[in-house]
Parts: sequence; C-alpha cells; structure tokens
Amino acid sequence: MTSCLVKPDFVKHAQIVQWVSDIAKITQPDSIEWCDGSDEENARLLKMMCDAGTMTKLNPELRPDSYLACSDPSDVARVEGRTFICSEKESDAGPTNNWADPSEMRETLADLFEGCMRGRTMYVVPFSMGPLGSHIAHIGIEITDSPYVVVNMRMMARMGKAVYDVLGEDGEFVPCVHTVGAPLAEGEKDVAWPCNDEKYIVHYPETREIWSYGSGYGGNALLGKKCLALRIASVMGRDQGWLAEHMLVLGVTNPEGKKHFIAAAFPSACGKTNFAMLIPPAGYEGWKVETVGDDIAWIKPGDDGRMYAINPEAGFFGVAPGTSEKTNPNCLKTMEKNTIFTNVALTDDGDVWWEGLSKQPPAHLIDWQGNDWTPSDGEAGKKAAHPNARFTVSAAQCPSIDPDWENPEGVPISAFMFGGRRADTLPLVVESFDWTDGVYKAATMGSEKTAAAEGVQGEVRRDPFAMIPFCGYNMGDYFQHWLNVGEATEAKAKAAGNELPKIFKVNWFRKDENGKFVWPGFGQNMRVLDWIIGRCEGQAEAIETAIGYVPKYDDLHWQGSDFSKEEFQFVTDLSKDDWLKELKNHDALFTKLGDHVPTALHTARVKKGEKIAQNM
Ligand code: GTP
Ligand code: SPV
Ligand code: MN
Repeated sequence: MTSCLVKPDFVKHAQIVQWVSDIAKITQPDSIEWCDGSDEENARLLKMMCDAGTMTKLNPELRPDSYLACSDPSDVARVEGRTFICSEKESDAGPTNNWADPSEMRETLADLFEGCMRGRTMYVVPFSMGPLGSHIAHIGIEITDSPYVVVNMRMMARMGKAVYDVLGEDGEFVPCVHTVGAPLAEGEKDVAWPCNDEKYIVHYPETREIWSYGSGYGGNALLGKKCLALRIASVMGRDQGWLAEHMLVLGVTNPEGKKHFIAAAFPSACGKTNFAMLIPPAGYEGWKVETVGDDIAWIKPGDDGRMYAINPEAGFFGVAPGTSEKTNPNCLKTMEKNTIFTNVALTDDGDVWWEGLSKQPPAHLIDWQGNDWTPSDGEAGKKAAHPNARFTVSAAQCPSIDPDWENPEGVPISAFMFGGRRADTLPLVVESFDWTDGVYKAATMGSEKTAAAEGVQGEVRRDPFAMIPFCGYNMGDYFQHWLNVGEATEAKAKAAGNELPKIFKVNWFRKDENGKFVWPGFGQNMRVLDWIIGRCEGQAEAIETAIGYVPKYDDLHWQGSDFSKEEFQFVTDLSKDDWLKELKNHDALFTKLGDHVPTALHTARVKKGEKIAQNM
C-alpha cells in the first residue's frame, strides 16, 4: 500500500481508525482517502471521473455543474434477489427476505472482500442521516472504492468532516463497507463503470453492519439510503418504538393558512417524487404543497400522541423517465444545475434527455449505452434512457422544499396514504375504518411490477407498506409493530386531546379497456389530497362501504376540472367479484407470511370477507 493509514486531524475516533485499518488490511487498496466533503474534494473527484470516462460534464450553459454517468448495462437497479438480511435467527428475517446464516455469510464475504480494492483508492465517507447533530439523526461511515458513490453520497446525506465533530472520540456509527468488486492488476486499465457479475447486499441487523459487493448503482451502493435508513433503521425502530418507512412527506396549506403534513408510501417508481412536489392545479389557487421528503420518512410518536416525521436524506435520487414540465415542473427546476444524471441520454449540445421529457425527441442522441440514437430507434422500441435512469440532486435546490424540512423535531403527520399501481379492483381513494383496518390495508397492498423488481412487468405483486424490499426483519412482526405503535400512541393522543393520523389507500392507476389511465393523476391528485384533509378536519363527506369510507362525486372539488361523473364512477367502482378475488390473494399473502402475521389482521380479513359478501 502506497498511502497510509495516517488519519487526518479531524478524525478523533480511535475505533473508526482501527476499523478503517482492519478493512484496508482485508481489501488492500492502493491508497486511502479520508473524505472531508469539501468543494475541492468534490471537484477533484468529478474531474478525475471525467478524465476516466466514467462521467461526462454537461454543457455548463445549459446545465451548470452537472454530469452524466452511464453504468454497465448489467448494473442498472437494486438487486432484490441478491439482498440479504443475516439475522442470527432465520425467523427474524422472515419469508419475504433472503436470509443467510451470519457466520456463513461472513465467510463468503471474507473471500470476496480479500484484495477486492487492489489498484483502487479506498474512500472513507462520513455521513449523517438526518440533520447533523440532531437527536434523531443516525451516523454511518461508508468505506467505498467508488468515487461515484462519494460524490452521490455528498448530495444524498449530510456528508463531510463535521460528522466527526458530532461523533467525537466514541460516538456511535453504522459501519458500511462497499466495493464494486473489481480489483485491478498491476498496470491494468480500468473500465468506465467497474462492477462484478456477482453481487451481495448484506445486512447484519443485530450488529448493525452493512456490506455491499459488486454493484455501483443507487440503493446497492449509496448505503445510507435503503440499507441504513430503511433496513437497519426499521430494526432500530422496532426495538425503540418508532417507524422507518418508504414514504414521501409533504405539507399542504389551504388558502386560510392552515397546514397539514401527509406521509405517503407508494412502491418504487409509483409516484412518490411526483406527489411530493405536486403543484396545485387550476381551481386550487391559494393552496400550497411543500416537499419534506420524496422517499424515506422516520416517524416517532411524540408525548402528545402525534406522530412526527423527518426526512433522513439530504437529496433526491429520483426516476428521470416520465419527468417533464407537464408531470413535475418543480422537479425539473430542482435539477437545472448541480445534478448528477445516471443512465439518461446525451443530446448533441451536451444536455440530457429521457423518454417523456418532451413529446418530440431530439433528432439525434447518444443513448445511455453510448450508441447513436434517432427517433426511429425510439419507434422501434429502443429506449434512449434506461427506464430506471435517475438524477441525484440536493433537496435544498427544490423550489417547493418545505421550510421545516430540516427541523430536527420533525413535522406532525395528519394522515398516512398507501398506494400501488392497480389497473383494477382498488378505488381512487378509500379511508380506513380505524388504525387496525389501516394497517390491514397497508399490509395487503399490491402493485404491478416495475423496472426495479424482478419478474414479469405488469404482474401484481404484494408489497406490504411498499416495504417488501426494505423491511430489515420479519414482515409479520413489522405488522405487529405498526399495531403496537398505534395502540401506544393512541393512548397518549387521547390524554392530550389529539387523534391518531387517519389512514387512506389510493390508486391513481385504474385503466380502461384500452389500457389507458382514466384518472389524470399528477397535479390532479390534489383533489384527493383535499378530500383527505377535509376528512381529517371532519368536514368532507363520505359514504360507508364494505371496505371503508369513500367519497361521492360531489364530495370532491371539481373547479377547474372536466373529469366527468362517469369517469369518477369508473375509477371508484367496487366490484364484488374483484374484491372476493382480492381477499383470496390477501389470504394467500398471509399464508405466505406465516405465523408471525398478527391475529388481528386475520380477524380483519374474515370480517371484511363477510361484509363484502353481504354489502358490496
Ligand atoms: P422510487 O424513487 O423508485 O422510490 O420511486 P418514486 O415512487 O419516487 O417514483 P416516481 O415519483 O419517480 O414515479 C415515477 C413513475 O410514476 C413515472 O413513470 C411517472 O410518470 C409515474 N407517475 C407518478 N405520478 C403519477 C400519477 O399521478 N399518475 C400516473 N398515471 N402516473 C404517475
Ligand atoms: C427505490 O428503488 O425505491 C429507490 C431507488 O428509491 S434506489 O435508491 O436505487 O433503491
Ligand atoms: Mn424508493
């Protein structure tokens, strides 16, 4: 090793120095760099990656300080099949997670990590999930051999040497070790996107450790996000009485100035970023929607029985395709500058393009795999951008960012929303009867598969709470945890004269016989949000059905809209046959999840079946 273990002055934590030294002995990098998060460091790494062909600097007049990285075609999304929860007991991982015995996994990884950073620099990346120094934040240190990871982590988390000040000499941190798994032999030339066909994304929940091998992409490699802030944090939440969720958080202010915060869980690529940055449509003048977070929420019950949410992230790692001036103008403004794009197409004038950005594609592009692309390729079904192409950008650049987005106390949640992509069966919106029914609705969520999941696209997969890929423990225990948190919080709420958040299920994705979405979605989702808030305030009307409370056409506000009563009928229709089938699928899900599913949810299913049979 040419360079050294000499730690910089800003690191005063002996255990970290020891750990870094231990990892370096195993991985054998050429050098070690202790990242400080400075502008100088960032600029240097970006320049180095441009020189190496990993990144392309975009035209500074069109997209200042922005870059495009294109990954290896085999490394384009999270790999759920290669993600492991290595708890001591298999039953603590549960049937929805891949489990491996921790000591066996440690042996497997010891072989893989041995010498895995040869020929590369090892970066030590300190980061805080949640505002620096806040009592709800958690700190991680990611060791990585990917400079792409360093510059992304700098936007996605609070990254830099101030983290060491918070840690002091003995503060707690989650150790995260990441390698692309592509050591270089003496004199071997590197490729633009090193990675390995073999991949392991491994979590040890008891010791709170993360080890990631073989991928440089997104949630596989930016370990603060899904690995720490969801899988490990969900275990912390279970043990400490709080919730780590795959949720966006937004604030809605009405023309009178009254504000509500809403947390919403939709599966990956189902519209969280869009909804979090919603712009109220015509007819909603004087209303304001502000963004607290677009992907992850940590929610802690307060002594007043309200649930307070923070966004542990500092940036957005959002899906590019489909993002346009029409669907999400706030998002486009957010990424006007200082943005890293991954796997989108490059225009001839040095800007970026993806499917959906404009109706008419440019006459010529370089696609995400580096090939020439013209609109006729598009007509032949060849995508210019990968469907899971993403942008990385600081949340602070978002024009709709909420003034309280970094408030360490969090924001009080009035309602939870759960939604997936369902072409049929699920109505536009339904309100739960009570907390237990809400937990049932979230537990039985389904969604059609998208690019991030393996299997046939379009097929419904059950994705409880949008947490299937992210729950770090047994899904049945997680349901029980939600029931427990509700019960404990309700008692406090009653004492303080507050109420538990209401729980709603939504579906923007009902399709007609031609496969077209009937609900216009995007900004128009404001009308559903308005009704939800009305329900929280005890003002909006609803009718009771077998599955919960639903609005009639006149209960939503239609000013500025031409959505017809017939179309509303279509997106809110409840079919007894469909629902009896749906309940069979819930039963199959519970059977698959096994004996950890709470009895209360089995009882709820049976009761629901009776109600549907009698009243739908
Ligand atoms: P992750 O970052 O993967 O967790 O996903 P996300 O939930 O943030 O996904 P995102 O907001 O990027 O959603 C992307 C997809 O959802 C795009 O294809 C959008 O066009 C589509 N989408 C978002 N909102 C709506 C909507 O209201 N209606 C319809 N039909 N599509 C929507
Ligand atoms: C998701 O897949 O839900 C994401 C993207 O938010 S990634 O960070 O890659 O997991
Ligand atoms: Mn996500």
